[in-house]
Amino acid sequence: MARLWPFFCLWLSLWSESVLGSILAIDYGADFIKASLMKPGQPFDVLLNRDSKRKIQATVGWKNKDRLFGQDAANIAGRFPLDSFSFLKVLQGAPYDSDAVFSFGAISTADTVKTERGTVALRRSDGTEWSVEELVAMQLSYIRDLAESTAGEKVYDVIVTVPPYYTQFERDAVVDAIEMSGLRTLSLINDGTAIAVNYAMTRLFPAPEFHIIYDAGASSIRATVVEFAPVPAEGKSKAGKDATQITVRAVGFDRYNGGTELDARLRNMMVADFEKRHKRSISQDKKAMAKLWKEAGRVKAILSANTEAQATIESLAYDIDYKAKFTRAQFETEARDLKHNFALPIQEALARSGLKLDDITSVIMTGGASRTPMIQEAVKAAVGAGKLAFNVNADEAAVLGAALHGAALSRQFKTKDIRITDIGPYDIQVSYQTESKAGARPRNINTVIFPANTKTGTKKTLTFKRQEDFKVKLAYKAPLLRGYPVDILEADILGVSEAVKNITEAGATEPVVKATVMLSESGFASIRDAVVTGEFKDESIAGPSSSAPEEGATADVGTAEEDTTSSSSSSSAAEASATSAAAVTKEPINLEIDVKFASIPPMSLAKKRTGRDRLKAIDAEENVKRRKEEARNTLEGYIYKLRDLLGDDSSGSPFMKCSQASERRRISEKVDEAYSWLQEHGDDAETIQYIDHRTALESLERPIVHRYKEIEEFPQALNNSQMWNWSSRMFLTEAKQNMTKELEAGTPTKYTKDELDEFEKSLKEHETWLNEWVEKQKSVKMNEDPVILSSEMRARAKVLENQLQKLYRKRPPKAPKKSSSSSSSTTSATTATTSASATGSAEETASTSGTSSKDPRHQEL
Ligand SMILES: *[C@@H]1O[C@H](CO)[C@@H](O)[C@H](O)[C@H]1NC(C)=O
Ligand SMILES: *[C@@H]1O[C@H](CO)[C@@H](O)[C@H](O)[C@H]1NC(C)=O
Ligand SMILES: *[C@@H]1O[C@H](CO)[C@@H](O)[C@H](O)[C@H]1NC(C)=O
Ligand SMILES: *[C@@H]1O[C@H](CO)[C@@H](O)[C@H](O)[C@H]1NC(C)=O
Repeated sequence: MARLWPFFCLWLSLWSESVLGSILAIDYGADFIKASLMKPGQPFDVLLNRDSKRKIQATVGWKNKDRLFGQDAANIAGRFPLDSFSFLKVLQGAPYDSDAVFSFGAISTADTVKTERGTVALRRSDGTEWSVEELVAMQLSYIRDLAESTAGEKVYDVIVTVPPYYTQFERDAVVDAIEMSGLRTLSLINDGTAIAVNYAMTRLFPAPEFHIIYDAGASSIRATVVEFAPVPAEGKSKAGKDATQITVRAVGFDRYNGGTELDARLRNMMVADFEKRHKRSISQDKKAMAKLWKEAGRVKAILSANTEAQATIESLAYDIDYKAKFTRAQFETEARDLKHNFALPIQEALARSGLKLDDITSVIMTGGASRTPMIQEAVKAAVGAGKLAFNVNADEAAVLGAALHGAALSRQFKTKDIRITDIGPYDIQVSYQTESKAGARPRNINTVIFPANTKTGTKKTLTFKRQEDFKVKLAYKAPLLRGYPVDILEADILGVSEAVKNITEAGATEPVVKATVMLSESGFASIRDAVVTGEFKDESIAGPSSSAPEEGATADVGTAEEDTTSSSSSSSAAEASATSAAAVTKEPINLEIDVKFASIPPMSLAKKRTGRDRLKAIDAEENVKRRKEEARNTLEGYIYKLRDLLGDDSSGSPFMKCSQASERRRISEKVDEAYSWLQEHGDDAETIQYIDHRTALESLERPIVHRYKEIEEFPQALNNSQMWNWSSRMFLTEAKQNMTKELEAGTPTKYTKDELDEFEKSLKEHETWLNEWVEKQKSVKMNEDPVILSSEMRARAKVLENQLQKLYRKRPPKAPKKSSSSSSSTTSATTATTSASATGSAEETASTSGTSSKDPRHQEL
């Protein structure tokens, strides 16, 4: 069974020495945003916001001119119901006339408007409009700022979770928001898959296991059937025995059922209760509805752990303070029609995976709403209590898994080897018309190219026998949601006739157009490229005769359908290699592809730039404001500080002791001046003016501060000087004694007389200087500028120190060459002596020298 992965693997270590960037992972939910930062060499964890919260309310708002995020933005909804924007996730990529916008309207007090792209924007009370992408981008920027202040460096790369059911339109909206926020999309990852990565992080799977990740979020419920298996160690693949393969088998989901729907039911109960008791309607009162929404969330959370809860809202409407008691039983009755739906995604996912409940080891419960008793009961009833597992962090597993996957993708970190195979949940088809031939009308061909459950990252090659330009369309096979389009994109393949002509002139036969279609790892379907290729007779290899059967084989491709969809890139590669013995394919000619988005286009580059600029403009404006407030606050604080210093009558304070009456008078005048300026112009001044006033005050205070700093520093600086003075003197005395001895013994002297004389001269100069200025300093009053600076004392002591160090480091003199018989032992003895002064252990060195004289190998050193 699953074994615990050693804890230290949660700590990332450097993969290489190159300069590495941090990676940000964001789990962008309808209710909360969770983020995690991966920085090389640091343990990774969930990113905290400025209030040290681990999850950040997914709300952006404005209180008049101030933009707010998170809890602050959510809290103002009751007062500014048009300026607080939550649940933006349900609006991502949504057409204006769709169920998503309708259900948003049921829970939010914000005003929605239609953009030119047919998507949704929100209108503030001042009339300004912000697209959903722009508002989400603001939140992502906010998270990026948090990450950057945590990382202490710029952060660019981000991996963001999305629900597995997100269509291409919704995925585009996420990527557009990321780009406008100034981040780079490393990848999108389906949230169930991210949770699976988190689950696999601390576990090993010696044999395959199936689990269902049940994720009950605010806006929706997802079930992901996942297989965990060891990575087969075949060939030269260097998968360690700890490597895990995660394969998503199927997903099931309910897009409109989750924690938020339960909040809505609870709010309905409150509205009905209020209207019944007070005989007045409040459902049109946006402020009241926003206040009730907040209270409903709170009461629901209490009812998850208690059987009853009290709702209390002061001055809800008509000056009425609302108070009511709700029981869990009442609440569950109100929402009983939903209960049946809670487990449906599990059944759906199981059916699509072809597995049976018996095959499933556990159902891993995650998501904020998985704490709701009613939801737990529904799942328990569907799968049996024994299968329920609460073994991942319900709130943070997705973001931590995403972070780990992001780290693996970036290849900058050494992480546990976890491989992912994910799927696209929808049938995607390619459509085109057959070539028009004389007499015959072109027919429409629709082929499902990526059936539901196709692995993401799959490429397929389409082969067309064409002479002219043509169109290829990618679309979802069936409508997915009311109001959502099915068409993903339309591509014009251009320049076909010229390319066919060129390649034919170059000697190719049977020219065909090959287009590569891809379902990316992040779940985007696209047409990657289109080329014209053909078969070339290669006389150097096969000679002209052998090409004849080859042409026949190629002709098979264009059958009655005329266009053939070859099954996959691997099979077309096999085709190519099979024919290479007889003929070679020369360089294909690239064709131009003109992609159009007929339905909901992703944002154009120009629109994204505009959005980016709007966001930057607000950021810049806020920065200017922040700097101004800072400058004002610092000036104010400084004025108060100086007043305190001036008003301190005890005259014992350093400020008083080190200042003259005239100086204090001047400061006092300037303080009064700055203060009255602040009173008169403080509210509409420029940042620079606050700074100028502060600078003027600082220049008056600076000499005083300098004095008492020097008074503090002086004893230590003097001590330091005396210390070097003293050790230099000691050294000189000893060195001179040694020299006398050495001269007497006839051994070479370590120092020359000049060296010692020169050093003595420096020392004397130092002493003279020190004595003179210390004497002078004694007569300087505390409130006068010092005549000798501690910095200068230190600098002079340093000169002495350097000279002394240099003498200490001096190598001992070489033994005279003539006494060859005992040269080796003399040398080692001298070495021992010198190093003894460094190590201070004469005995040990002596014994080393003894060894060295006996050991011939040692002597060579
Ligand atoms: C075809 O050949 C002409 C002449 O060499 C060249 O100018 C043109 O770019 C070629 N077109 C394509 C699509 O390769
Ligand atoms: C001077 O330095 C010595 C040794 O570092 C220390 O013991 C002594 O307290 C110092 N005296 C002053 C006045 O800093
Ligand atoms: C420097 O050291 C010598 C010898 O210890 C001493 O006589 C002299 O007063 C010292 N000078 C100062 C300024 O400390
Ligand atoms: C003087 O000689 C002794 C003994 O040889 C030695 O330890 C010391 O380091 C020498 N002093 C100087 C200043 O060279």
